Amino acid sequence: MSAKSIKKLTIPQPDDWHVHLRDGAMLAAVLPYTARHFARAIVMPNLQPPVTTTARAEVYRDQILAALPEGIKFSPLMTIYLTDTTDPHDLSRGHELGIVTAAKLYPAHATTNAEHGVRDVKNIQSVLEKMQRMGMPLLVHGEVTDPDVDVFDREAVFIDKILKPLRKDYPELKIVFEHITTSEAVDYVSSEGKKGGLAATITAHHLLINRNAMFKGGIRPHYYCLPVAKRERHRQALIMAATSGAKMYFLGTDSAPHFRQAKESACGCAGIFTAPSALALYAQVFEDAGSLSNFEAFASRNGPSFYGLPVNEKLLELMKIDHLKDDINSILTENRQEIVPYRNSAPLRWCVAEV
Ligand code: NCD
Ligand code: ZN
Repeated sequence: MSAKSIKKLTIPQPDDWHVHLRDGAMLAAVLPYTARHFARAIVMPNLQPPVTTTARAEVYRDQILAALPEGIKFSPLMTIYLTDTTDPHDLSRGHELGIVTAAKLYPAHATTNAEHGVRDVKNIQSVLEKMQRMGMPLLVHGEVTDPDVDVFDREAVFIDKILKPLRKDYPELKIVFEHITTSEAVDYVSSEGKKGGLAATITAHHLLINRNAMFKGGIRPHYYCLPVAKRERHRQALIMAATSGAKMYFLGTDSAPHFRQAKESACGCAGIFTAPSALALYAQVFEDAGSLSNFEAFASRNGPSFYGLPVNEKLLELMKIDHLKDDINSILTENRQEIVPYRNSAPLRWCVAEV
């Protein structure tokens, strides 16, 4: 059967290896969209204030579990936000107790709520040594924050300036290069990842838009995120990587909701909210690349394998939609604040069947 004629895909339930669930009313509004499709998710710690200790990660995990709609099974995998003063013992205790799955490195000021991030990797030497010994993954926001570096070059410069030296100093440290956006990142992860210990998440939106989307007919704040979308040739490299089925690439939506007024502003927030349609969007990319047969590796197998977790037993069915319907325009929190989901230029072609 040709890839184009595939109408139904049954795969082990996928996980989202990078998501922002926020807290409070926003958490209650966005969580159902992630929890209805994904079995587990790596939950980013950039709350205000950030989740910097095991105790805070435990409280946050319980808030997420309490906000779950009835009858939905979902496991939040918690992360700790590294700072210059992270306590290595607290981190290792959290990991041993199964409360904390991984730790996130935000270079200071790299993105939304990253002002508490790490100023210099040298400041967290003992933390990284401990993580390396324990096999605890380090998740990196791969952009330098030097204002002299052009915003479109920050990921490529990060590879040379930070990632390569980090891999040299901590060769056994498991690293996930989060939400990659460039051919430079693909080249590096494809070659280094073969040795093991290095992987990358790829978002749906970076597979679907290039930087032109932000400026089509005017400024388009709902297509603005960090790392910012790059040129078309980078998007093509990402599509090749994701749809190859190679073990070092897996699904991480980086779904990052902000209220409408925070996005549509003179200084709009970075972040694209893709959770409502993430799986359908990814499926479309794989279908267009003629690689639906590799979707299971990317969405359901490569992530658990890197994190040393079992593949989910439950199955999920994706179906081709016959009659295209309009996508959701916006969702409301309980206090009637609006969040605008990512919208494709064309209606969704896939949907998730009830599982
Ligand atoms: C994220 C957010 O809003 O928390 N924004 C984004 O553009 N991706 C932060 C992040 O992951 O960089
Ligand atoms: Zn993110």
